[in-house]
Amino acid sequence: MTFKEEILRRRTFAIVSHPDAGKTTLTEKLLLFGGAIQIAGAVKSNKIKKTATSDWMEIEKQRGISVATSVMAFDYKGKKINILDTPGHQDFAEDTFRTLTAVDSVIVVIDAAKGVEPQTIKLVEVCRMRKTPIIVFINKLDREGIDPFDLMDDIEKKLFIKVRPLSLPIGMGQDFKGVYTIWEKTLNLFNPHGKQKDEETIRITDINSPELENQIGERAAAKLREDSELVEGVYPEFKVSDYLAGDISPVFFGSAINNFGVRELLDCFIEIAPSPVGRTTEERAVAPDEEKFSGFIFKIHANMDPNHRNRIAFVRVCSGKFVRSKNYLHVRLAKQLRFSSPTSFMADKKEIIDEAFPGDIVGLPDSGNFKIGDTLTEGEQLHFKGIPSFSPELFRYVENADPMKSKQLAKGLEQLMDEGVAQLFTSKWNGRKIIGTVGALQFEVIQFRLLHEYAASCRYQPINLHKACWISSEDKVALATFMERKGDHISEDKDGNPVFLADSAWGLQMAKEQYPKIEFNFTSEGNFGTKR
Ligand code: G4P
Repeated sequence: MTFKEEILRRRTFAIVSHPDAGKTTLTEKLLLFGGAIQIAGAVKSNKIKKTATSDWMEIEKQRGISVATSVMAFDYKGKKINILDTPGHQDFAEDTFRTLTAVDSVIVVIDAAKGVEPQTIKLVEVCRMRKTPIIVFINKLDREGIDPFDLMDDIEKKLFIKVRPLSLPIGMGQDFKGVYTIWEKTLNLFNPHGKQKDEETIRITDINSPELENQIGERAAAKLREDSELVEGVYPEFKVSDYLAGDISPVFFGSAINNFGVRELLDCFIEIAPSPVGRTTEERAVAPDEEKFSGFIFKIHANMDPNHRNRIAFVRVCSGKFVRSKNYLHVRLAKQLRFSSPTSFMADKKEIIDEAFPGDIVGLPDSGNFKIGDTLTEGEQLHFKGIPSFSPELFRYVENADPMKSKQLAKGLEQLMDEGVAQLFTSKWNGRKIIGTVGALQFEVIQFRLLHEYAASCRYQPINLHKACWISSEDKVALATFMERKGDHISEDKDGNPVFLADSAWGLQMAKEQYPKIEFNFTSEGNFGTKR
């Protein structure tokens, strides 16, 4: 296979949803289709149940599982599918946002009974900003749910995306009869007692054919025709180019647990979903078919084995071919590195690979060289753009609880921040360190991991803060004045960028009004492989 063919056959994507909508179940069914796993239940849910917020074993287990399931690769009908896993728990939403920078498209799962839920709104917002193509899978049709057209309205209103159904459910809950796939013109009858078989798919080229009545009865046939007319009349014609541009999202209906509607989704997905797309760097645009390798680190995972401090850094190959044991430039450190045991992940097993292509995710064993956003190249100075740091909303002072271990604490904190667990700020006013997170769970994770992985202990002190925002201004004098006047609210992030710590929404508002020349940013993008 040529290099170009290798690129064109790759599909790298993530499945995102609000917890419990069925992301894990759908992932597992896709793996079953791909032959990557043999039995249902092989993919463990990597979510931390709400009740387990203080259950350390559960968190450790989750971390172990999510290494194994970080990337699931398999071949299906000649395509190489890379599914990137995202944590379900909302306290780890930032992890998910970062993973979204490494994919080319997403599938959003929505629970038919619940409609659009808060976590879905946040995740889709990030996709929309990046114009990532989205396919929507409405799940759990075997249960009573919201009317399909109301659901699609809900999606359009709350997610601010335009949708276009490519399948239509016939009934729902107790009356669920199956799905008519507009995309393939096939009727799929629902068999709740087992796995959907291919021979149960009936090809209907004309929805007006009396065959429809024979299959699903008069009432259901009439309703399906009516719905189908509604689709043709109300929704725009489906164009793959609109989907690829992020302007329209096709919708599929099904029931993941019953393996229903999943094959149709996958078959359409491999046909329309984008092959690896280019990425932008501060210097220039990078195309996947460039000869020279480049990639960026979007995720770092600590090793589970306490005897080895090693971590795994996940690199997304953006261009060229990644080759084992070849020297690559770590741009931020200006250092050549070679990797003798890069790994890829095939469902539940990890294996050493000799080469990888654009769109692939490679796991690199790391002893502390990498942080999120780092770039690897064959020598060129490139800094990939777009990995966001989100403004944290929860804050605590962090203090050393064991004076004998201050070095360990500093190292532990630095490495955990490199992994992107939380953000560390240093107050310019009193020099104290402040940890900011997007979820409450992270404070406990940090304390636990410092102790178990670095033998350091920390103590938290409360601090009353509302938001951290990165500040900048074209007018350097205005920025200096602001920082001087607000001295007790100014800190530095780990890269030395100035951050304003607002203690209330009102305080932030006042600062914005009084200092119109200052820009207040709630995400810091592009301090990616920081150039300073
Ligand atoms: P998540 O990863 O998005 O959090 O969701 P997950 O797949 O774990 O699914 C959440 C729950 O919804 C699970 O039940 C799962 O069995 C169920 N589910 C998934 N797809 C369907 C479907 O098509 N129909 C119905 N009726 N249920 C579905 P659970 O009771 O929380 O877990 P489990 O004990 O079944 O594993």
